[in-house]
Amino acid sequence: MRFDLFTLLPEVFQPYLSSSILQRAASNNLIEVRIHDIRAWTYDKHHITDDAPYGGGGGMVMKPEPVFAAVESVLGVPPSCQVILMTPQGRTFTQKVAQELSNLPHLALLCGRYEGIDERIRRHLVTDEISIGDYVLTGGELPALAIIDAVTRLIPGALGDPDGAQDDSHASGLLEYPHYTRPPVFREWAVPEVLLSGNHAQINRWRREQSLLHTLRRRPDLLASAELSASDRKFLAQVDHEPASSGSE
Ligand code: ADE
Repeated sequence: MRFDLFTLLPEVFQPYLSSSILQRAASNNLIEVRIHDIRAWTYDKHHITDDAPYGGGGGMVMKPEPVFAAVESVLGVPPSCQVILMTPQGRTFTQKVAQELSNLPHLALLCGRYEGIDERIRRHLVTDEISIGDYVLTGGELPALAIIDAVTRLIPGALGDPDGAQDDSHASGLLEYPHYTRPPVFREWAVPEVLLSGNHAQINRWRREQSLLHTLRRRPDLLASAELSASDRKFLAQVDHEPASSGSE
């Protein structure tokens, strides 16, 4: 999958992209990330990419010319792939959106800076707008990295374990079950016995119940759209009447 990143801060991406899983995915040709400095498409002496807003008010606005020139010279007219603007006004990025994007062969991510971007960029260049949450960052670079990271780990072969992304929190609409590793007892806190039993049917059942319990206690809103079996529903109905501290949560 190819990502084209358009940014005014090209230097911030490389350290994270060189981290283990993303670096490995790139070396294995599963992803290719091309970083484009929007400033390279300015033709004035001072390489200006922003200007004051028409109508007055504070802050600066990203100018349309360098952004159109950058995207169109890399991706053609009209652009050959989706152009996603990172903005707190976009649709919320979720695991489902990550899954949707991971099926595409090519994506362009446009990182806004300053207080805003000229509306003509949004209307005539951008094809989708994504927010990573209801808070405002100083630019779209961290959101773009979050998207590349979440999408890459869904590409088959990107994680060492072929089933790696299957049990993730949110993958099935539920939060993930808790994990334990050696030692079996640490500071008198023992690993739940069932995990040492070797009984995989029981282990799977315990994990499913823990997933349901965590989701019920922490993110009950997720249960409405999760895929639940009859026995999941029975379990939830039963624990819902117990106090929050009960169960092996
Ligand atoms: N740019 C600034 N804040 C953002 C957010 N929450 N999501 C995406 N892009 C942003």
